[in-house]
Amino acid sequence: MKLIYRGAEAELYEHEFLGLPTVIKKRLEKAYKQPQLDKALRLKRTKSEARMLERARGAVRTPHVLDIESDTIVMERIEGSTAKEEFAEGNVESAKGIGEAIKRMHDKGIVHNDLTTSNILLPGPRFIDFGLSKMSPAVEDKATDLIVFKKMLASTHYKVFDQVWGKVIEGYAPSKAIAMKMSAIEKRVKYR
Ligand SMILES: Nc1ncnc2c1ncn2[C@@H]1O[C@H](COP(=O)(O)OP(=O)(O)O)[C@@H](O)[C@H]1O
Ligand SMILES: [Mg+2]
Repeated sequence: MKLIYRGAEAELYEHEFLGLPTVIKKRLEKAYKQPQLDKALRLKRTKSEARMLERARGAVRTPHVLDIESDTIVMERIEGSTAKEEFAEGNVESAKGIGEAIKRMHDKGIVHNDLTTSNILLPGPRFIDFGLSKMSPAVEDKATDLIVFKKMLASTHYKVFDQVWGKVIEGYAPSKAIAMKMSAIEKRVKYR
């Protein structure tokens, strides 16, 4: 198996499963954590991520989950690039579609809770990394999801930030309630 990514939480490998191109995401043990608690948390996140990948599919494109085994998910491999790579190259055409997709996800009651350009694959957009996501109808949770994404875009993609964020919001077309909550959160963060 070929290692393609190593993060703080997980390692990802390329693999063939029943002849299909797949990615294996294995959550890592944390040596400094109490072993039973660590294991329970890894299993919980893995299960929850697989469930949310499937659940979100009604609203947005996500890789199909082929297998799940304790701390490991086997999923369909998306051949393409991350939105991070595309934005870094100045390719920002996907931004509006990303906003539209986030809106569909929120309308279905799913907040992703880790919206970054590494967690959006193109073409698609396809969304991944649902380990922290949850079902929530709360305006506050949706607004926070957007603000976290905005902050990430501003720090990582400052060269194309204005263009990208403008298109994301055009696609998302926030309701008045969400727009107001976003301003409130931003003020709170600024004056803290
Ligand atoms: N299904 C997939 N197809 C192709 N690449 C993937 C897939 N899932 C993850 N990746 C790649 O691996 C990286 C890390 O995966 P991710 O689930 O976001 O792990 P982490 O929780 O460590 O951030 C992604 O940013 C992407 O580049
Ligand atoms: Mg990720």
